[in-house]
Amino acid sequence: MTDIRNDVTASFAATFGQEPTGLWSAPGRVNLIGEHTDYNEGFVLPLAIDRRTIVALALRDDRVMRVASAFADELVELDLAELTTDVLHGWSAYPLGVVWALGEFGADLSAVPGFDIYIDSDVPVGAGLSSSAALESAVAVALNDVWQLGLDKQALARVGQRAENEAVGAPTGIMDQSASMLGREDSAVFLDCRSLDAEVIDLGFDRAGLDLVIIDTGVSHSHSTGGYADRRASCELGARTMEVPSLRYLGVDDLDRARELLDDVTFRRVRHIVTENQRVLDTVRTLREQGAAAIGDLLDASHVSMRNDFEISIPELDLAVETAQMNGAVGARMTGGGFGGAAIALVPRDAVSRIQVAIDGAFAEHGYSQPDVFSVRASDGARRDR
Ligand code: GLA
Repeated sequence: MTDIRNDVTASFAATFGQEPTGLWSAPGRVNLIGEHTDYNEGFVLPLAIDRRTIVALALRDDRVMRVASAFADELVELDLAELTTDVLHGWSAYPLGVVWALGEFGADLSAVPGFDIYIDSDVPVGAGLSSSAALESAVAVALNDVWQLGLDKQALARVGQRAENEAVGAPTGIMDQSASMLGREDSAVFLDCRSLDAEVIDLGFDRAGLDLVIIDTGVSHSHSTGGYADRRASCELGARTMEVPSLRYLGVDDLDRARELLDDVTFRRVRHIVTENQRVLDTVRTLREQGAAAIGDLLDASHVSMRNDFEISIPELDLAVETAQMNGAVGARMTGGGFGGAAIALVPRDAVSRIQVAIDGAFAEHGYSQPDVFSVRASDGARRDR
């Protein structure tokens, strides 16, 4: 962590020939439970992780934005006056999309000065850990400070989502940016995606002797294309047919009627969302009343629902989950949007290396490339570091 911060400062100086004014950072996230519920106005329970994207920034005297990063050779340059979503593409659509979205949230982009930015990150890309939200949140929190916009963290989360939806073109919900903004050490963010009320929930993994293990399958996914948007469309069809504003308005008691009104596929998509919302509520209650060791069955049930009803898992994720479950995990599930990315397993500390070995072995046996298995800790959200 310290290393990346020093590297970013040095890279900023090497690229732009001066010292940055400051450093800001924002974490990736992992979702403990509540998948695809965010854009259905439901409940989610993500946490910010101890992998961060760091932004070094200095304001300029003119109106030019220059963006460089450790993950691309090109330096992207654009005048603030020329900023529209149409001119944005590639990785710089994330940081510059945030600038555009700040304008949509009230920043007067005709009056602010330009800036130089250098970005680095240790959030793995394509692992389902929201490297994109980390990038958006780090840039949003930095510009909010230096331009003195006065937006709060919840508004900045919506700025990041807006950038992702309109500039990048991925029709995603509010979960990732909220986790990256509002995360807290050893805690999860319990978010009601209808009211946007957020509550910090103590996880107590340490006290329970548990590690949260990520199994990154290395199978990459994109939510700008294909499955994610299809699932979203099915949910909207389900809500329309059931005559509710969103699936949030349905409870488990409505499922019998849903089965009568909906075709089989739409019904199963709806059943996932409705039961998943209930599982988030049950997880929050269980964490409070019984502690982390008792939430395993809810994690397992969430995976089954995503595999069978929502159909967003892949064989590599199923294998990771099953292998973790068979080797001592308290519970396990795929996490994030699906079609690739990572699974999580809640694991007693003394079983972590056994699970790692078992997963490596199982993947080798199936001829899958080796996954990346590592533990994460719940961490603080976006902030100024220096
Ligand atoms: C992606 C999206 C989120 C959310 C999850 C699924 O991570 O960015 O908004 O919809 O998928 O829970």
